[in-house]
Amino acid sequence: MKKNVVLIGFMGTGKSSVGRRLAKILKMDFVDTDAEIEKLTGLTVAQIFARHGEKRFRSEEELIVKKVARRQNCVIATGGGVVLNPENVKNLKETGVIICLTAEPETILERVKRRNTRPLLPRGSTVERVNELMEQRRAYYEAAADYTVDTTHLTREEVVKEILKLL
Ligand code: S3P
Repeated sequence: MKKNVVLIGFMGTGKSSVGRRLAKILKMDFVDTDAEIEKLTGLTVAQIFARHGEKRFRSEEELIVKKVARRQNCVIATGGGVVLNPENVKNLKETGVIICLTAEPETILERVKRRNTRPLLPRGSTVERVNELMEQRRAYYEAAADYTVDTTHLTREEVVKEILKLL
């Protein structure tokens, strides 16, 4: 059976935008776990965090990941915190090859500044904050990843090309 392609990585590394393009090229379905959570709850990620807290978001995320991981022929873009829950990693690994996208903290900050949709990196967040969160998560990303692609100096098309070489 052909495996799903799962994109993990920190906020602002381009998982959704790269994933959508990759799916098109590979003629696979594209699934974004954050978008699925939003569809299911009728709330944006920011609203879920604000009204119900991060814990509630994480349990919605676990349910969606379980469901999505059972699908076939998908490129799956995940939320940046998906690796914090070992259950998610186990489920995604069972059916997918895991690709971790990375970027330098300064680049991340530039990219997420353009929108204000990330409750964990609200407007005005500093590079120190990005660094701190990244350090807390580094080991989780490394443990989960089959491959890693640094996107710092690459365009979306170049990232897609790198991933295609790995598959
Ligand atoms: C999160 C990343 C977000 C979203 C939520 C929490 C995180 O997804 O799931 O805001 O913990 O890193 P993106 O990585 O797509 O921004």
